[in-house]
Amino acid sequence: METETFTTHNEEETIKLGEKFASVLIKGDVVLFYGDLGAGKTEFIKGICRHFKVDEIVTSPTFTIMNQYSGLIDNQEFTIYHVDLYRIKTKDELDEIGFEDCLFSPDAIKLVEWAENANGIVKFSNYTVKIKADFDDETERLIEIIKN
Ligand SMILES: Nc1ncnc2c1ncn2[C@@H]1O[C@H](COP(=O)(O)OP(=O)(O)O)[C@@H](O)[C@H]1O
Ligand SMILES: [Mg+2]
Repeated sequence: METETFTTHNEEETIKLGEKFASVLIKGDVVLFYGDLGAGKTEFIKGICRHFKVDEIVTSPTFTIMNQYSGLIDNQEFTIYHVDLYRIKTKDELDEIGFEDCLFSPDAIKLVEWAENANGIVKFSNYTVKIKADFDDETERLIEIIKN
């Protein structure tokens, strides 16, 4: 397990960090995001999507639970799943959205916010990103990237 820690000072810096981080990702990877509401998980994911030249607008799928984007690796299209489990309470709800199928799709990159709500189902992830806000500084974020 390898951990790198970063501090960002505004939204754009977090997006840029996500963009830079994305260059290590390969198809099939799962990335889990931890952090309170408003920590910056979705901003970081916007950066990942920017790296992969996603055209669709990247927003928190808080109500839709799962967004699907089309990205590019070496000019080849592939799928990015952006999942937000904030509202998920039961395994049935996860089954309804096809979460497990999504998790195991070998050709897609899976980005999961609030994975703690799928404990027991998400058994492995390639990376974990933990984001903490600073109480004193409204726009400072401590971002830990763990390679599992
Ligand atoms: N350093 C920062 N990094 C990321 N977001 C920041 C930062 N400073 C302020 N923000 C603001 O915090 C909010 C983060 O929102 P979002 O990424 O949707 O959070 P989450 O997905 O973790 O709930 C945005 O409104 C953004 O403008
Ligand atoms: Mg979010």
